Amino acid sequence: MHDHIARVLITEAEIEVGISRVAGELTDRFGGRDLTLVAILKGSFVFVADLIRRLPVPLRVAFVWAESYREGTAPGALDLFWTAREDEIAGRSVLVVDDILDSGRTLAAVRRECFARGAAEVHTCVFLDKPERRAVEFIPDFACFEIEDVFVVGYGLDHAGRYRNLPYVAALKPEFLASSAVAPRGARP
Ligand code: IMP
Ligand code: MG
Repeated sequence: MHDHIARVLITEAEIEVGISRVAGELTDRFGGRDLTLVAILKGSFVFVADLIRRLPVPLRVAFVWAESYREGTAPGALDLFWTAREDEIAGRSVLVVDDILDSGRTLAAVRRECFARGAAEVHTCVFLDKPERRAVEFIPDFACFEIEDVFVVGYGLDHAGRYRNLPYVAALKPEFLASSAVAPRGARP
C-alpha cells in the first residue's frame, strides 16, 4: 500500500498536533454543554475516534451515512442515511464532524438536516479543509488542516474504498488514482 503513495502531505506526528489543537478549541467552546457529535460515515471514523478521546466534556456520538455518487473523484448526487435517534439531535448542541470539506455539499446538507430535526445549535468540525474546491459557500467552525486542491487518502479517507487505514494523509500516484474512474456508483461516504 505504501508504494502506491506519491507524496505524504500530513505525517502522523503532524496529525497528532493538529487534532490536539482543535480538541483544545472545542473544549474551550463547549466545555459546559452536553454535546451530540454527529459523525459522517464512513470517512470520519478515524478522526472522530481520535478526537473524542481528547475531549474531556460530556458528549454523545451519533452517526449519519453520507453516500455521494461520483465518477472518479468528481462529486455527484448525495443521499443521507441517519442512524441518530430523534432525542440525540432535537433540542441539543450538535457538532457535525467530517473527514474533509471539499465542495461543501455534504456538510451543508447534514447541517440543514440537523436543524430540520430540531437541533438547538449546529457547529461543524473537519479534519481537512480544501477551500479551493468549494461549490457552495461553507466555512467550517473548526478545521485541523487546510490543504491544496489535490485528492488525498489515508486517516479515514479512501479512494474506491481503499487506503482508509493509512496512518498519514497522502496523494496517490496517478496510476492508482485513475484505476476506478468507472460508471456512477456509491463512493467515499
Ligand atoms: P463534499 O460534499 O464535496 O464537501 O465532499 C465530502 C466528501 O467527499 C468527503 O466526506 C469525502 O468523503 C469525499 N472527498 C472529498 N475530497 C476527498 C479527497 O481528497 N479524498 C477522499 N475523499 C474525498
Ligand atoms: Mg466522507
